[in-house]
Amino acid sequence: MKTTSSHGFHSASLCTPYLLLVPLGLLAVLLVLPSLGSSHVRSDGLGVTLCRRAVTDGYSVASGADEKAVAETPPEFSLLVGVLTMPKRRERRDIVRMAYALQPPAPAGVARVDVRFVFCRVDDPVDAALLSLEARQHGDVVVLNCTENMNDGKTHEYLSSVPRLFAREPYDYVMKTDDDTYLRVAALADELQGKPRDDVYLGYGFAVGDDPMPFMHGMGYVVSWDVADWVSTNQEILRHNDTHGPEDLLVGKWLNIGGRGKNRYDLKPRMYDLNWDMDNFRADTVAVHMLKDNRRWAAAFRYFNVTAGIKPSKLYHLP
Ligand SMILES: *[C@@H]1O[C@H](CO)[C@@H](O)[C@H](O)[C@H]1NC(C)=O
Ligand SMILES: *[C@@H]1O[C@H](CO)[C@@H](O)[C@H](O)[C@H]1NC(C)=O
Ligand SMILES: *[C@@H]1O[C@H](CO)[C@@H](O)[C@H](O)[C@H]1NC(C)=O
Repeated sequence: MKTTSSHGFHSASLCTPYLLLVPLGLLAVLLVLPSLGSSHVRSDGLGVTLCRRAVTDGYSVASGADEKAVAETPPEFSLLVGVLTMPKRRERRDIVRMAYALQPPAPAGVARVDVRFVFCRVDDPVDAALLSLEARQHGDVVVLNCTENMNDGKTHEYLSSVPRLFAREPYDYVMKTDDDTYLRVAALADELQGKPRDDVYLGYGFAVGDDPMPFMHGMGYVVSWDVADWVSTNQEILRHNDTHGPEDLLVGKWLNIGGRGKNRYDLKPRMYDLNWDMDNFRADTVAVHMLKDNRRWAAAFRYFNVTAGIKPSKLYHLP
């Protein structure tokens, strides 16, 4: 998918490569909520302008780069970021959306990064109604065919559904992350730029037993498309009922048993848990985890100067 979008944003810094698209033709396999209606250009109120893509079926947010330049320079790679969340965590999702929308994008020409919020089946009619509005408004909702859970196969469902869902336009990399992780897309893109596109497993590594290959912490890890594809076709994982338990451990286990993800990269210390005193932020952060309440998100936005980006106005005074 090319980012052939029209202009119409307020300023380049407010546009991110946070692409919004309609996951088309997937309804047979998954329940992807219908997203986005008609109309040309609209604003979602965050200063991000959604632009009707001329040729195909979705919307994208302009990357801030010149349209022609973007069209002529396809990005070096593409990355799907799946943020696993739940219908009830609506306020958190708003915060996370802003966190992605208000950060510097990966440089045009380097990476196309699409962020999606990933759910299991939504049975509650109230949740379903509200989530369908979210899907209409943001176009970034993916609902998998599973029952909501953290350690009971949702990650497996995600990794194994993505190759089917996005088969028409495969990504180079697929990421799984959570709604208590602040991911800095440009920093991650910078790390990925020089990496192989195949057989990759990258994240915050931790050791398991005397296994020489680190496992990647569930706060956020990236696998290359071939690895997700391998997970999706590997019947052994299901046969051994190997989808129940701590999801990050299991992913590492599948890959080690299958001899996959041999290009393994540990991004410690650029990926880390925020400590209790919130005093271990780093300027070169790729991802910081454990943002479990608004106070901790606020600290992250302050530290990374996101709040400093507000324009002076007589209409508000925010200390
Ligand atoms: C969802 O999964 C269930 C159980 O695995 C299956 O019976 C059903 O057909 C699936 N639904 C869709 C829409 O794929
Ligand atoms: C798979 O594991 C789960 C959790 O340990 C268990 O509840 C379930 O019965 C198992 N299923 C099979 C088919 O063994
Ligand atoms: C935030 O801005 C201050 C002042 O300009 C600067 O010193 C600091 O390095 C910035 N922090 C980050 C994480 O970029």
